[in-house]
Amino acid sequence: MSKEKVLNRLRNSKDFISGQTLADQLGVSRNTIWKYVKALIDDGYKINSVTNRGYRIEEITQQLNETEILRKARLLPEQLKVFKSLSSTNDWIKEHQEELVPGTVVITSHQTSGRGRQGRSFHSPPNQGIYLSVLYKGDLTPRFDFVTITAALAVATVLEELGFSPAIKWVNDIYINKQKVCGILTEGELELETGQMKYLVLGIGINVNNESFPAELSKVATSLRLAGGHPLDLNELAAKLISEISQWMSLLLPQGNNQDYTQAVDEIIKAFNQRLYLKGEIVTLIAGSGLRVTGELIGTDEKGHILLDTQDGLHSFPYGEYRLSVDPSLPST
Ligand code: BTN
Repeated sequence: MSKEKVLNRLRNSKDFISGQTLADQLGVSRNTIWKYVKALIDDGYKINSVTNRGYRIEEITQQLNETEILRKARLLPEQLKVFKSLSSTNDWIKEHQEELVPGTVVITSHQTSGRGRQGRSFHSPPNQGIYLSVLYKGDLTPRFDFVTITAALAVATVLEELGFSPAIKWVNDIYINKQKVCGILTEGELELETGQMKYLVLGIGINVNNESFPAELSKVATSLRLAGGHPLDLNELAAKLISEISQWMSLLLPQGNNQDYTQAVDEIIKAFNQRLYLKGEIVTLIAGSGLRVTGELIGTDEKGHILLDTQDGLHSFPYGEYRLSVDPSLPST
């Protein structure tokens, strides 16, 4: 794509390049060059245009953009869809899953109806966070029981590489300094005839450059910018995340024998437990149908269930949400 060629030429030049030079180099008209420059400006690049001197790139975009992500993530162009705004990336994939190729990543930095678990909404204001979903289908569908846990590890790994110390709140939230920075929502459709998943959608939302949150979230949520003290490049982070997800998910792909799989799951659980939020603390779990159980948080078992040491012994639970049990009236931590 010539828009990318113009971008590369501008990136590689500290000085202005004239429209005519670019036109000659790329074998197109000056008018076409101007069209590409305008498209790059729309993508969020700051490009200075000065009469008789030409164009110079002043700042790499802070908006999510396909070219930047593809430069850094190992994805085929047809596997990446970047939108300025969507209602929900999970919903968009579910609507279009038939025509999308396996492994498609849909990404936006604004959702108007971002969704969390249990019908909750997920705060997704414009140009501050990363909201992405990955479609798995066909042979490339990972075994689904550990997808959320594994995705949480992928996010945690990226954040650790950036110098943060994240903790994973079983099963789908990432915390920094006891505040939520990321949520994960895995959804899918089961094919009743085969008992196999028809497709899976892995949705991840990260608060990246938010400087503040609405009052109801301000105590419980944080962003990487608030926790780290500086803004991050959304495209770079998105690319890192996409690569890390694909590496971790490859452990759950059905090829390989069962022994490999069991070994991979053991490693995943071990890595997950090392980062488990509130491990060793007394927590209260609200399990499925409103059942409340209090006990010491021991970890995640080999099925990916949460294990509590309660007054009447060890119990594991497949679903639920926990919080420190000191004061259940406090907002969930
Ligand atoms: C939660 O906090 O309970 C999970 C939040 C998951 C949010 C992500 S953002 C991308 C994807 N699209 C959605 O509507 N939700 C998920």
